[in-house]
Amino acid sequence: MRTKVAIIGAGPAGLLLGQLLHASGIDNIILERQTPEYVLGRIRAGLLEEGTVALLDEVGAGTRAHREGLVHDGIELAFGGSRHRIDMKAATGKTVMIYGQTEVTLDLMNAREAAGLTTIYEASDAQPHEFDTDHPRVSYVKDGAAREIACDFIAGCDGFHGVSRASVKPQAIRTFERIYPFGWLGILSETPPVSHELIYNNHERGFALCTMRSTHRSRYYVQCPLDDHIDQWPDERFWDELKRRLDQKAVDHLVTGPSIEKSIAPLRSFVAEPMRFGRMFLAGDAAHIVPPTGAKGLNLAASDAHYLAVALREYYDEKSSAGIDAYSATALARVWKAVRFSWWMTSMLHKFPDTEGFGARIQLAELDYVVGSKAATTSLAENYVGLPF
Ligand code: APR
Ligand code: PHB
Repeated sequence: MRTKVAIIGAGPAGLLLGQLLHASGIDNIILERQTPEYVLGRIRAGLLEEGTVALLDEVGAGTRAHREGLVHDGIELAFGGSRHRIDMKAATGKTVMIYGQTEVTLDLMNAREAAGLTTIYEASDAQPHEFDTDHPRVSYVKDGAAREIACDFIAGCDGFHGVSRASVKPQAIRTFERIYPFGWLGILSETPPVSHELIYNNHERGFALCTMRSTHRSRYYVQCPLDDHIDQWPDERFWDELKRRLDQKAVDHLVTGPSIEKSIAPLRSFVAEPMRFGRMFLAGDAAHIVPPTGAKGLNLAASDAHYLAVALREYYDEKSSAGIDAYSATALARVWKAVRFSWWMTSMLHKFPDTEGFGARIQLAELDYVVGSKAATTSLAENYVGLPF
């Protein structure tokens, strides 16, 4: 087989890139090692920046998001027993949308199928080859047979544990990482959200987040020790701990119920530089990971896909390599700002064992300053709604 762009990974980055390339008349094939059902079964965050929604609209996959997504003008920060609203729309003129990543992925899958584009699921052992030449290719195994795709470019959209970044010579790549000393225990429940907007809680027992998937499906997270196991957290213990971290108004409005999903995820900040290696580009989690506190993971996957699609359109339409030569620096400039914001939100809101009393007081002082200063509120808001592409 031959195509212009071989995309490894059918998550948000790969699927959105595929549609953006298709919209520019650039044919592409996606190789995905899992089944569509497996990809859709992943429970992930669900907060979209306006720029991400605009990209879904650009590829004709935004209709359901506009119908079912919840548009939010603000968030609340809770600390010291009270809540403080950050009016993001007033500060920036922008809003965010709550719409699950699973739904984004499904809408992109449906758009891809409607366009008759090729996605090879259950493609095992995908390997990028000769991406430092002008004739890259990707080998893989499907139905027990070895196969290969010749291409002009490879897009590594295969996530943090993918093969693309791992295929780069160690001397050609530099990584930056911070592992946080705690995890997030998340629960999904068919219960009405405790509030119509998200509540980020700084508490002496640890961080808690109240969010949602719809007006009848809630998502809650509590910070937990990294070595905790899900079996240690029966629903009753989760709800009790969550109540101990929320303000009284939230406790009074909390509707508990059986979990329909419950999992513990570690938190890390990670960036690989550069994001281009000859004719192979990295996009999304393949190149960077953020702690979910800033809700940036999906939105960075989207902006990477945007930058790469524009660069490849310039290459094919204008016979110019300027865009692909600038891709890594352009994407990393936005990535690092989002990594900083996600690190800052995580540092301000979570309990860090090593900083003890002093660190906790600094957090409360920072939170008090953020909610009391128009400049600081605006700074949080413009990062949260998403910096310009
Ligand atoms: N061959 C083919 N496919 C692969 C391989 C491989 N060797 N390795 C991984 N994949 C697939 C995974 O099965 C997954 O479907 O690549 C896809 C990567 O998708 P994501 O991990 O979702 O990454 P990305 O598309 O960059 O989206 C980032 O997803 O994980 C969340 O929090 C993250 O919100 C962020 C978003
Ligand atoms: C979610 O809805 O899962 C979510 C929202 C905002 C975050 C993290 C997770 O910062």
